[in-house]
Amino acid sequence: MIKYLGSKRRLVPTISAMARAASARTAVDLFTGTTRVARGLKEAGLSVIAADSASYSEVLAEAYIATDSRRVDLGAVQHEIDQLNALEGHDGYVAQVFCRQARYFHPDNGRRIDAIREAIEQSHPAPIQSGARAAAVAPPSPPAPSPPAPVADPVRAILLTSLLEAADRVDSTTGLQMAFLKQWAPRATRPLSLRLPALLPGLGRAVLGDAVALAPRLPPVDFAYLDPPYNQHRYFTNYHVWETLVRWDAPEHYGIACKRVDARDGATASAFNRRKTMPSALKAVVESLKARLVVLSYNDESWVGLDELIAMCAQRGSVQVLRFDSKRYVGAQIGIHDPSGAKVGTVGRLRNEEWMVLSGEPDLVAAAARAGAEAPTALQPQ
Ligand SMILES: C[S@@+](CC[C@H](N)C(=O)[O-])C[C@H]1O[C@@H](n2cnc3c(N)ncnc32)[C@H](O)[C@@H]1O
Repeated sequence: MIKYLGSKRRLVPTISAMARAASARTAVDLFTGTTRVARGLKEAGLSVIAADSASYSEVLAEAYIATDSRRVDLGAVQHEIDQLNALEGHDGYVAQVFCRQARYFHPDNGRRIDAIREAIEQSHPAPIQSGARAAAVAPPSPPAPSPPAPVADPVRAILLTSLLEAADRVDSTTGLQMAFLKQWAPRATRPLSLRLPALLPGLGRAVLGDAVALAPRLPPVDFAYLDPPYNQHRYFTNYHVWETLVRWDAPEHYGIACKRVDARDGATASAFNRRKTMPSALKAVVESLKARLVVLSYNDESWVGLDELIAMCAQRGSVQVLRFDSKRYVGAQIGIHDPSGAKVGTVGRLRNEEWMVLSGEPDLVAAAARAGAEAPTALQPQ
């Protein structure tokens, strides 16, 4: 799994326990990111829809959520991975832009990423326009089809996932692509190596799109998990390298970080990254989802307070809140530095509080809250 700001790795057992306690059979993970939570739910036996506005999330969701591992010839995929690992590197966009102008990868690895990505495009070209992608760009109209919907080319998604994860293991960042380390990270000089992703058996679906537009169009589910962005920092720019690696569109770029120029377009903005629009966007999503139980993750450092979140969720039925003490993200742990690497500021607090707001049918909320409070987690329940 890729390094990801706001990843809920440590809460997966809690969320899965809640879904099981609510006897949920279907679920949606509407801001799925790395797909960790959706994977946990799929492993718990649920049929899961994993949705996000990021192209790399769609690929990860196609591989981990929408692909049933029992229907894939894993030996044949491993053979393709072996062939990709054996390719000679050559200079392309990644080597030029992400290794020489910026320094996200060592050039030896960047040249191999170029060769491998190009080979995937040759052997598994992008589908003309998938239903999910069409839904993301077109205004919402008829209801989205119920899961499962087959992925046009699961092997393409599996190979891209394998490449994303391999590139993540040798990157030279602190986990965000707004900047790169001044000196190569030790892992950056290790050779890139693709592995077969740990696919799961079972049903699911990947959806690319804006949560506000998607929420009213999704089919009814038993369990919905919401993990929206908490502040102005945009995932589109924080993870622009993954976006480009998946889209493979060699975009014009700007700044030292070589961000995609379309990061400046309104079309790539998210209502969840603006203080003004975030509360109403979240309210619209919470109100329009058809789900018996909704679990909303949030924390105490953001724009909406706990009382406001509870008020948003109250119309769904009963509401209960679980609170967890948590370590803040890596940027806060390693300090504030200027572009030359010198320490310039002092870090604020190093811990925050994660909230999970449960709402819906009273008996389901009560059962899920009990199970969530008792589930093993690396976070400290309050
Ligand atoms: C806090 S992260 C989710 C992390 C995820 N739960 C995990 O464990 O990996 C928020 C996610 O919301 C997505 N996002 C931002 N704005 C969105 C929008 N308007 N619609 C759908 N997804 C959005 C981002 O791409 C990002 O993956």
